[in-house]
Amino acid sequence: MANLGNEQSVSGTDVWLTPPYILEALGEFDLDPCSPVNRPWDTAKKHFTVEDDGLAQEWDGRVWCNPPYGPPMSKWLNRLAHHPDGGIALIFARTETKAFFDSVWDKADAILFLKGRLRFHKPDGSLGGTAGSPSVLIAYGEQEVSVLQSCGIGGKLVYLNNAHSALSPLRFGVGVSDSP
Ligand SMILES: C[S@@+](CC[C@H](N)C(=O)[O-])C[C@H]1O[C@@H](n2cnc3c(N)ncnc32)[C@H](O)[C@@H]1O
Repeated sequence: MANLGNEQSVSGTDVWLTPPYILEALGEFDLDPCSPVNRPWDTAKKHFTVEDDGLAQEWDGRVWCNPPYGPPMSKWLNRLAHHPDGGIALIFARTETKAFFDSVWDKADAILFLKGRLRFHKPDGSLGGTAGSPSVLIAYGEQEVSVLQSCGIGGKLVYLNNAHSALSPLRFGVGVSDSP
């Protein structure tokens, strides 16, 4: 098994990797700022790990962010919300939480509520069990709204008040459309 360093927790691992088909559907990213130390596959052109501290680094280009779990999650999402090049985040659909209100409802441009439950991968790349919660993909930036519109990942796309996009069906409200 790969050396996980301080990524290992008492429950086994804090590293749950995005299913590759999700990343393939979203197109190539320039940066994954929170990547495993030993990754079984690339998630972007450039990666930061816990050894670099991705939050302390310069972010450049289109960002993929499946952040570490726990209270610091909103630090990652807020950083992405203010990142001028935009990006997409993947988190659990815990829509009632302070983090979701602070960093998603009030800052993101669109949310794709995924149909069904994801199965994340373990650090060695093997498939884990079904996730305990539903997941959402979150678009930060106009370009990323159109990526979620056309990615083909099944779910319901919700456009938020924050959308700057002319693509949003309700510019000043919350709109909803089906995704296949
Ligand atoms: C939920 S996993 C997602 C991994 C990968 N980005 C993906 O989408 O498959 C979160 C990752 O963040 C890493 N991480 C935790 N703290 C970090 C930090 N301060 N800087 C960079 N990466 C960190 C963990 O080691 C873990 O690999």
